[in-house]
Amino acid sequence: MKEELKNIIEKLENNNQNEIINLMTNVYTDEENEKIASQIERINLEKVMDLYENASNIPFIDQSKIEHIGYTDLSSLNEEDFRSLKTAGEEIIKSGKYAVITMAGGQGTRLGHKGPKGTFKIDTVNGEKYLFEVIIDSLNKAKEKYGVVIPWYVMTSDDNNEQTVSFLEEHNYFGYDKDKVNFFKQGNLPMVKLDGNMVVDSNKLIKEASDGNGGIYSHLKIDGMLDKMKADGIEWVFVGGVDNILLRIVDPIMVGLTVKENNLIASKTVAKRNPEEKAGVFCKLDGKPKVIEYTELPKTMAEQVDENGKLVYGDINILSHLLNIKAIEKLADIDLPYHTAFKKSNYLDENGNLVEVSEPNAYKFESYIFDGFSYFDEMSILRVKREEEFAPIKNASGPDSPETAVNLYDEYNKKYNM
Ligand code: UD1
Repeated sequence: MKEELKNIIEKLENNNQNEIINLMTNVYTDEENEKIASQIERINLEKVMDLYENASNIPFIDQSKIEHIGYTDLSSLNEEDFRSLKTAGEEIIKSGKYAVITMAGGQGTRLGHKGPKGTFKIDTVNGEKYLFEVIIDSLNKAKEKYGVVIPWYVMTSDDNNEQTVSFLEEHNYFGYDKDKVNFFKQGNLPMVKLDGNMVVDSNKLIKEASDGNGGIYSHLKIDGMLDKMKADGIEWVFVGGVDNILLRIVDPIMVGLTVKENNLIASKTVAKRNPEEKAGVFCKLDGKPKVIEYTELPKTMAEQVDENGKLVYGDINILSHLLNIKAIEKLADIDLPYHTAFKKSNYLDENGNLVEVSEPNAYKFESYIFDGFSYFDEMSILRVKREEEFAPIKNASGPDSPETAVNLYDEYNKKYNM
């Protein structure tokens, strides 16, 4: 056996990867071994095993350390405040200091759409539109309104980068200025089975899955986007998801409020629909801003109501964030914590046979963008109206489906844009 291969096997032995060792010693051809070896070389196995060891630890939320997070209600701003926030925000936007990032590295598994989620098509009162096109519509409108071409950054992943770029190329960026569009890729992490062996995919390589939208900060830096933004004089960066068709990606009020409150980060929130709504909730933990993700909020907390019958954890995250470039710079050098999801994943067993599973069998590790917020003492929170800013497409049918989202989009557009 070649020296390099021996080193790889040793690395695998140290991390209890017996299935892969067996594949490499008894099943794979030399060529297949070379491919998987070069993959293993760049994976931080110690980090992956550390995540695996801690995977079953359910995050404990100490309620005695949690308090409500204050917010500004958009609908309660008086005319004078509204106007001054708007003017302050518009100045920043018009002077070319504002950029937009769309996080589009996710899989869209729940929706059941094959391909990047941004390439999903909906039928609206404004005609048929792809999700990416809805975002570009807003950029084009801002261009008309403020006289600037706002730089647009798209975060993709290994899984969907090529398809995303060629889709936008094919559609000529829906009329937007191509030289103002930049792509950068988030990271991956291997999936690990319950027994500690990494998942080997049918392509005979270790299955690496997108490691969550929290990778945005470090990958903006790694891919040179942070330097580019700084060189271009960008000071404020809006970051949003790909699937909310009412997302307001250019909002002077949000910018003005954050500047006025002297904060480096901001988010919008809407009132939670009911305890079951699958959305993270804002609060403060140990005095710092925090989002508790819906997958980690215990049912008792989700159902808790105050003396007025309102949900205590009732301010949801709608993936509408604003960050100062200094905040991104700080977070780019911080390792955010990882969260664990338990997923179904077919795999090759140690003899190279494909095992098809019907139940979750493997851990997937993800960091979350909002975990970065806890590194700041304060953030601005702007409460907005659901029917004006939150129409997410998550599921194929039922709540948060194309049908419910398009209804909200159509109502809004009939009211304000026609
Ligand atoms: C997300 C929020 C949740 C919020 C809800 C509102 C996070 C971690 N969770 O949940 O708090 O209430 O939206 O709609 O933000 N993405 C990547 N790379 C990844 C994973 C996701 O770019 O590895 C992107 C997706 O493309 C999408 C966004 O992040 O634009 C949210 O991802 P998704 O998996 O849809 O999150 P939700 O579970 O809906």
